[in-house]
Amino acid sequence: MKQGKFITLEGGEGLGKTTNLAFIQHFLIEQGREVVVTREPGGTVLAEKLRALLLETQGELISDKTELLLLFAARAQHIHNVIQPALTRGAWVLSDRFTDATYAYQGGGRGIDVATIAWLEQFVQASLQPDLTLLFDAPVELGMQRAKKRAALDRFESEQQAFFRHVRAAYLERAQQQSERIKLIDASQSLAAVQLRIQQWLETL
Ligand code: TMP
Repeated sequence: MKQGKFITLEGGEGLGKTTNLAFIQHFLIEQGREVVVTREPGGTVLAEKLRALLLETQGELISDKTELLLLFAARAQHIHNVIQPALTRGAWVLSDRFTDATYAYQGGGRGIDVATIAWLEQFVQASLQPDLTLLFDAPVELGMQRAKKRAALDRFESEQQAFFRHVRAAYLERAQQQSERIKLIDASQSLAAVQLRIQQWLETL
């Protein structure tokens, strides 16, 4: 039985997900909630090892199918060992990315068909879905400029602009299809404006 709430943050690279994750965490703690902050790919020791394999730029080429399966393997472990136990004991789970990222990056970006992703989603998650997803959205160029200012680019960040345009389009399409759950945040606004919107959506929960 799920007692707590499950919130996920999604969007392109460099759009402020990490900064706002901390903001949401503080907001929920102030409300007296137990909050588990986590991320995908990752969130357990094994899933973090899979993350490292997925992000490294050196070595053997990773096929699109391998990438998809490693992401769902990491997710299965994350759900079983972290997300589900936390929700069952009544904690609120805040995850930096979840399955919408697979629809956007592997579906939109890599061109894997939606039915295959949906099958894996059903197999790995059964009925588990986020209660609220905040989608940070801005033109691809803005996010890329910000991401490039950071340390070395990982395997996904090294993709071309066209890849990120497809990722963004897939995210936006999903937000339109699932508007009850996925709330769009215009990440090109000031941080104060973004955080006001976030707070409004959290209050609806
Ligand atoms: P991060 O940069 O937000 O930490 O996420 C790591 C990368 O993993 C990011 O470029 C998006 C990518 N990713 C996918 O391609 N598919 C997924 O399902 C997830 C969760 C992340």
